[in-house]
Amino acid sequence: MLFAVPLLLFLARASLWYSHSGQVNFHPIDLLIYEGKAQHTAWLAQASASNSFFTASRKYKQRYQRPPPPNFNKWYEYASGRSAVVIDDFDNIYDDLLPFWSLSPSEIRQHTWDVITQSNNGVGGISIRDGKVDVLPGTPGTHRWMLDGAIRIIENFVEWLPDMDLALNLNDEPRVAVPYRDIEKMRSKGRQPRLIGANKITKFSDERAVGWAPVTEEQFPDTNFEMLSFQRTFYEYGSVGCPPSSPARRQRLWDTSQLCVTCTYPHSLGQFVSNWTLSGDICHQPDLADLHGFYLSPAAFQGSHKLLPIFSQSKAGGFNDIRFPSPWNYMDKVAYAPNEVYPDPSFHDKKVSLFWRGVTSEGVSPGTRVWKGMSRQRLVHLANSPTAPQHILLPIAEGAKQFAYTPVPPSDLKRLLSTDVHFVDPIVRCGGRDCADQATEFGFGDKVDFQEHWGYKFLFDADGAGFSGRFLPFLQSRSLPFKSALFREWRVKWAPREREAEMIAEEGREWAGKVLRKEDMEIYFFRLLLEWGRLTDDRRDELGMYIP
Ligand SMILES: *[C@@H]1O[C@H](CO)[C@@H](O)[C@H](O)[C@H]1NC(C)=O
Repeated sequence: MLFAVPLLLFLARASLWYSHSGQVNFHPIDLLIYEGKAQHTAWLAQASASNSFFTASRKYKQRYQRPPPPNFNKWYEYASGRSAVVIDDFDNIYDDLLPFWSLSPSEIRQHTWDVITQSNNGVGGISIRDGKVDVLPGTPGTHRWMLDGAIRIIENFVEWLPDMDLALNLNDEPRVAVPYRDIEKMRSKGRQPRLIGANKITKFSDERAVGWAPVTEEQFPDTNFEMLSFQRTFYEYGSVGCPPSSPARRQRLWDTSQLCVTCTYPHSLGQFVSNWTLSGDICHQPDLADLHGFYLSPAAFQGSHKLLPIFSQSKAGGFNDIRFPSPWNYMDKVAYAPNEVYPDPSFHDKKVSLFWRGVTSEGVSPGTRVWKGMSRQRLVHLANSPTAPQHILLPIAEGAKQFAYTPVPPSDLKRLLSTDVHFVDPIVRCGGRDCADQATEFGFGDKVDFQEHWGYKFLFDADGAGFSGRFLPFLQSRSLPFKSALFREWRVKWAPREREAEMIAEEGREWAGKVLRKEDMEIYFFRLLLEWGRLTDDRRDELGMYIP
């Protein structure tokens, strides 16, 4: 019985591939839910295995081939005192910081000073001294909230952090993309185990403050960044971190009217996303060059091919920014806050409709017609005025348990699932005829109170220029969110699958309540900054806190 289930899954997958145009005896969603649960259980087991500082520090050493950083005991107390579920798996932090081990601590500090003191480069600075955290001079007032938000998070644990400065990206778009050859060398240096000699010193160095050159009001005109706003970024930046042999580097697709099946196949099961992690890897997806505003024509893109220490709220695949929890969410810029006028009813009582409101902010269309490729525009177009029949996996007859991909004419699509997907007035980030053309094509929906979302069963989350500010509140609600990474494969035969939809919505809500709390943002940032403290310490190879 133990091996029967994997075998069954294998056969089920095989039958889906082989009978691609024919029938299948189950819906892929059932298989994906089953697999998703199994993977989640396995992930959680390894992520939350430790229940003491002793085991946490031992697991750390096994996992990352170095001892945990100084004050890891304080971090453990902080995390366990706030009922953190995840204690052991912080691979995102490990991955983001890995290449920085190839730079010396003084190089990292110098680069930090450089980017903070260059004028108009979209970077703000934060300093930590003697257990206090503050904004550095030279940050434009419009972006103060972001630094203030980061400071609010850091204040919770700043007494345990060493003196250092941090450079924060003030733009939505990510900044740093080091070419493949260089970044691979840097990563392999970073991977060298650091166990010998480490652990001699369990405290950060004294006198760290003198290692960070002072930042004053004076800003300098030279810059480490290339300005590529309004221009294509996929080939210059988006894909440079991919292997030279990968499709993203080798292929240029000219016929953008056709779905690139080889681009979606590796992370899909039929039309459904089967591997979420892999779908975020752009190296097998040359089609993305023409499918997102960020790659087609970003509003603000200031990029560097040099490994610069920039903390960003999000990044696309292949970028080397260091991710930190978004102050946007921490400061409740948009919050899940149902009220008497706009309650969050049970799933059953919500309107059966896919709901989305947003603005055309994903990229800029300055008269070059690039809006046609942007994902938000494609979403609104597909929801309101599809022109071609869509192949949708449907039961072969009413009540049948077999499914087949069936072409559905545009006129019938609305019948399958009602949508309320619209831009709100006015069209932004456009120029020339692209403003009027978009207004004609899309029309406008009503502006809504954010809390109105909870009235709908299905919520779409299409990230714009950068991170999505809404996904977290969507997850916290009783509605079922769809994330835009699903967009190209997303199809609408969900309505009768009420039970599964409700279950996913409920489990997402529960999960968000356990691991995406403000406390969890603090815990992630705390751990990240202890690691950063070690990386920037001149004696980093001797530092460590491992209780053998
Ligand atoms: C998803 O893709 C990642 C990256 O290629 C891979 O490591 C992982 O094993 C895949 N997961 C599944 C369930 O296939």
